[in-house]
Amino acid sequence: MPLTQTAIVTGAGQGLGAALARKLASRGINVLVADLNETTGPQVAQELKGQFGVDAFFVRTDVSNEDDVKAMVKAAVDRWGRLDYACNNAAIGEVITFTEKDYSVQNFDRMYSVLPRAAWLCQKYECEQMLKQPPRQVQLGPSSKTVPSRGSVVNIASVAGLVGMGQPGYAAAKAAVQSVTRTGSQFYGSSHIRINTVSPGAIMSDGFHKWLPTLEVRAKEFVENNIISGPPAKRMGQPEELAATVSWLLSDESTFMHASNVICDGGYYNTRYAAEPAPEGNLPLDSQTFSGFNEEQMALASIVASDIVR
Ligand SMILES: NC(=O)c1ccc[n+]([C@@H]2O[C@H](COP(=O)([O-])OP(=O)(O)OC[C@H]3O[C@@H](n4cnc5c(N)ncnc54)[C@H](O)[C@@H]3O)[C@@H](O)[C@H]2O)c1
Repeated sequence: MPLTQTAIVTGAGQGLGAALARKLASRGINVLVADLNETTGPQVAQELKGQFGVDAFFVRTDVSNEDDVKAMVKAAVDRWGRLDYACNNAAIGEVITFTEKDYSVQNFDRMYSVLPRAAWLCQKYECEQMLKQPPRQVQLGPSSKTVPSRGSVVNIASVAGLVGMGQPGYAAAKAAVQSVTRTGSQFYGSSHIRINTVSPGAIMSDGFHKWLPTLEVRAKEFVENNIISGPPAKRMGQPEELAATVSWLLSDESTFMHASNVICDGGYYNTRYAAEPAPEGNLPLDSQTFSGFNEEQMALASIVASDIVR
């Protein structure tokens, strides 16, 4: 009989992390719920046991603290003997701004002290454990071919790490999370550990629900007009949709995926045009750069310009 598989999900006390914990548990996977929140975290663990019949427990973890991260991985191994999957999802956010005037070094440092630091710390200790495990042979069904796997890790970044979105620290830190994935893949890929990134767009999580009202009017309009109603999906994503994507990327259905960045955003990143917040008073790009062109040249130049902006 195959061993029951095990997972760590950080930030699983609510939002995307909780949705992923439910998705993995629905696949029969045991889940360690890691979070700072000592109220919601244990509730989610309890729910997983009751609803899906898996083993689940909560470990109070500050993912930016090395000792906490080591203890988190140790707790999973003490209980289950191995770690098959990990999703490094816990994070903090910041508002959208249209100027750097009031943006402080403290804000910037705070983002870096949690987002890439936590992804790197968690990835390091999760992979250290996975390296100790003998590889499982994964069957590439329906054929009888097999490939080895010691484990799979997904780091959660954001489309804000790929486009300018008026979040100096958060965006830079999420780009750094993508970088943590790439470097980790170089270190661990040949040992049959897969590491990938998922970059969500706007997902109606608990965190997003609380974050949107904190934005000033112009920033809220930017989010509503560009990020929510602009993309082909014309709606926000649900945490369950993001969870399904992460679950697939962790699973044996994606065995040749290494170091990738899967964008799950309703099409925002690949279809956006002129969506960036321009500082007030700036001339539109066309009148700055292309004065003197005739209409046909202008149309062509606009297409090129929008590619440059992208
Ligand atoms: N919701 C979105 O629209 C969206 C978009 C892009 C990226 N993301 C990313 O997806 C992930 C989940 O987002 P969400 O919207 O579900 O967030 P959320 O705010 O709803 O939940 C985050 C969870 O992480 C926990 N947490 C925060 N700091 C922690 C720490 N230091 N140690 C341990 N736990 C900590 C919180 O207690 C909370 O339970 C984050 O990485 C976020 O940046 C979300």
